[in-house]
Amino acid sequence: MGLLKDAKQIAERDPAARGILSVIFLYPGFHALVYHKIGHFFYRHRIFPIARWISQIGRHFTGIEIHPGAKIGNGLFIDHGMGIVIGETAEIGDNCTIYHGVTLGGTGHSVGKRHPTIGNNVLIGAGAKLLGAFTVGDNVLIGANAVVLADVPAKATVVGIPGKVVRIDGRPIIHSEELDQVITVDPLEQELCKLMHRVIALEHRAGVEPDERHLPTFCDPEKYNQDNPEK
Ligand SMILES: CC(C)(COP(=O)(O)OP(=O)(O)OC[C@H]1O[C@@H](n2cnc3c(N)ncnc32)[C@H](O)[C@@H]1OP(=O)(O)O)[C@@H](O)C(=O)NCCC(=O)NCCS
Repeated sequence: MGLLKDAKQIAERDPAARGILSVIFLYPGFHALVYHKIGHFFYRHRIFPIARWISQIGRHFTGIEIHPGAKIGNGLFIDHGMGIVIGETAEIGDNCTIYHGVTLGGTGHSVGKRHPTIGNNVLIGAGAKLLGAFTVGDNVLIGANAVVLADVPAKATVVGIPGKVVRIDGRPIIHSEELDQVITVDPLEQELCKLMHRVIALEHRAGVEPDERHLPTFCDPEKYNQDNPEK
């Protein structure tokens, strides 16, 4: 019954889908969920070789490798599939979307929890790598090809390598004020901001009207005003 719901969800969420039957028969992302459900059943009953065998058959036919130990919520939409790896201790919440080339992996040879925990309604863009035992909050967007290595707060948009929060709830953020996390510290960005403030201050002194649109969104406009008290 859960799988039928999943298929329905996929049909609703994929604009290219031609109904629930096409999802059931033609979508490798859906087939991967079926293999995983069976493999996970054997894993929970500690019949590990059969669990692993089923997961490998699923990988062969879909190009999606989900370890039978991974915990997957309802309504996961794996779009395109191919090249996806989901590790043993990974956990995925409800209604998430994962594109091709995504890895939910570990970073070393440690045992125990070593893969990420993903919240609900999270989108993980094509090619993104999430490496380590951290948590991604609900309603997060992870950009294509991002490499995420640390916790991500709810409603954030994370892009780049290493992954950096560029939006919270769709709103650009000022890193120095609003977040104090390893994931957001970018010394290059801070230096760039300092330089931009100096350029604008010099333009002002030279009598040229500075164009604030050139200030990157991650820089603090208040600081710009302090640099230019008469403005
Ligand atoms: C991350 C993502 C969800 C953000 O979408 P959004 O909410 O519309 O946000 P925006 O497009 O306004 O982007 C926000 C900022 O991140 C940057 N950005 C967006 N996606 C990025 C990416 N993948 N890598 C690096 N930077 C990215 C934008 O340039 C923008 O920068 P700015 O603040 O300097 O202007 C989207 O860009 C994305 O990557 N989606 C994955 C889609 C995918 O994998 N499709 C595969 C289909 S086959």
